[in-house]
Amino acid sequence: MIHKNFYITTPIYYPSGKPHMGHAYSSILADVFARFKRNDNYKVHFLTGTDEHGLKIQRAAEKNNLDPLTYCNKISKIFKDLTKKLNLSNDDFIRTTEKRHYKSVNDIWNRLVKSGDIYLSKYKGWYSVSDEAYYNSDEIIEKNKKKFSTFSGSTVEWVEEDSFFFKLSTWEKKLLEFYDKNEKFILPISRRNEVINFVKSGLKDLSVSRTSFTWGIKVPNNNKHVIYVWLDALINYLSALNFPNTNDKLYKNFWPASLHVIGKDILRFHAIYWPAFLLAADVEPPTRIFSHGWILSGEKKMSKSRGNILNPLEIIKTYGIDELRYYLMKEVPHGSDGSISLKNLENCINSDLANNYGNLCQRVFSFIKNNCGNKVSKRKNISDSDKKLMEQTKKLTKDLRNEMDKQNLNNYIKSVINISFLTNKYINDEEPWKLKKNNTEKMNNILHIALEQIVKISILLNPIIPEKSSKVLDALNINTKLRNLAFLDGKNVIDDEIKIKKLDILFKKTT
Ligand code: MSP
Repeated sequence: MIHKNFYITTPIYYPSGKPHMGHAYSSILADVFARFKRNDNYKVHFLTGTDEHGLKIQRAAEKNNLDPLTYCNKISKIFKDLTKKLNLSNDDFIRTTEKRHYKSVNDIWNRLVKSGDIYLSKYKGWYSVSDEAYYNSDEIIEKNKKKFSTFSGSTVEWVEEDSFFFKLSTWEKKLLEFYDKNEKFILPISRRNEVINFVKSGLKDLSVSRTSFTWGIKVPNNNKHVIYVWLDALINYLSALNFPNTNDKLYKNFWPASLHVIGKDILRFHAIYWPAFLLAADVEPPTRIFSHGWILSGEKKMSKSRGNILNPLEIIKTYGIDELRYYLMKEVPHGSDGSISLKNLENCINSDLANNYGNLCQRVFSFIKNNCGNKVSKRKNISDSDKKLMEQTKKLTKDLRNEMDKQNLNNYIKSVINISFLTNKYINDEEPWKLKKNNTEKMNNILHIALEQIVKISILLNPIIPEKSSKVLDALNINTKLRNLAFLDGKNVIDDEIKIKKLDILFKKTT
């Protein structure tokens, strides 16, 4: 079998506080794409991790009376544990304090020096420690004698120090050409336009080293400077593939990255700085940056400093991980902000999971258990209503790969849950319970079709609700080799006798 490769990453998280729903959202989104591609027979490498250098982390460590590395060890572990709680299928977890990362950062730095893209000067300007970002004077406002970034709202401080600069200004034209040639490099389109307009308005050279603190990777052969944390952090995507060893199997198989999933607040770093650094270092840029919106609580971004956090761990404890995954993926509109609340979460669990997909599985399973001795024989013929359901299903599945390739999960979920709805309707219309006495062959046929539908729906929902969908497929005795998307191409059809096992209640109604 020919495998296609797919390398997908989450942003690496600052271990400056506990993980929250925004982090969970970025990670689950990437996990859904990773799982979908695996189910579609891709060889997938899925990376996540923690971004551990810079002033923000140094200050967080000081506040906790710990040296930075001890502090990072502690918080990075919390993020690593979270990958299990969110049921992420990541193949690797990288920390920027690891040796493999230092090696690759050093190499990129040396390449940038060699290509003549780095020079020494002095930085004078505004810096936000919370964003680890430099801002121009026209991006600053003053409120109550404090200065803030208009872009993120975070406070900025004045910085004046010796610094190495990256000649970003010389990459303006080449970046625009690159965006032009790679129309889908940035999705959604609205974000692409935003980036192009920003680049067109002119790029200034970028300060890529700091001298006023020490927590970072030292500039090669210069102990006074530490490398700017964003240059350091972005390179994690290469370090995890054992760059600079370009002969390494991981690098060969998986670079350029297929998809960096990020939030809109870090678009500039990924869509402008990252390809510029890579082009300058003579490394191919990634294929796609997908920028998602923010999780809002009411109208505001959910964040620690605003104190409006819905804690993902508490939600998982009360409602379950698949429930949270499904809700987040369904509720946040493609590429835009999404407001979440407990009330909407409960509505979503009840309407889509408990009453629709859950009910479909439960009613079919218990009917078969009570009336057919836990098995349904091979189906004999196809009626007009069977055909109609199959056609409807085919239509709804036609574009699903495409929707995933555009990272449009909302359309994907809508279609799949609609198949479940139509299957419930089919059962209501066909009324198999009325055939128990006089037409068991037709009854068997209807049940077989219903089970085939459940298999398809469960495979399609698997990237989003891996735990519950696997329970259903296990209870249907579906061989793991058949749990892939081949049926979308008319292959791997389940047309034999199906034996079922006990299926416990999948989703509890919340009210
Ligand atoms: N360390 C950088 C990323 C470096 S990648 C080379 C960083 N870390 S972060 O911990 O602050 O944020 C990581 C991700 O979480 C970002 O994609 C950000 O958009 C996302 N979220 C943080 N709060 C969020 C919401 N309230 N909603 C959705 N996602 C948000 O940035």
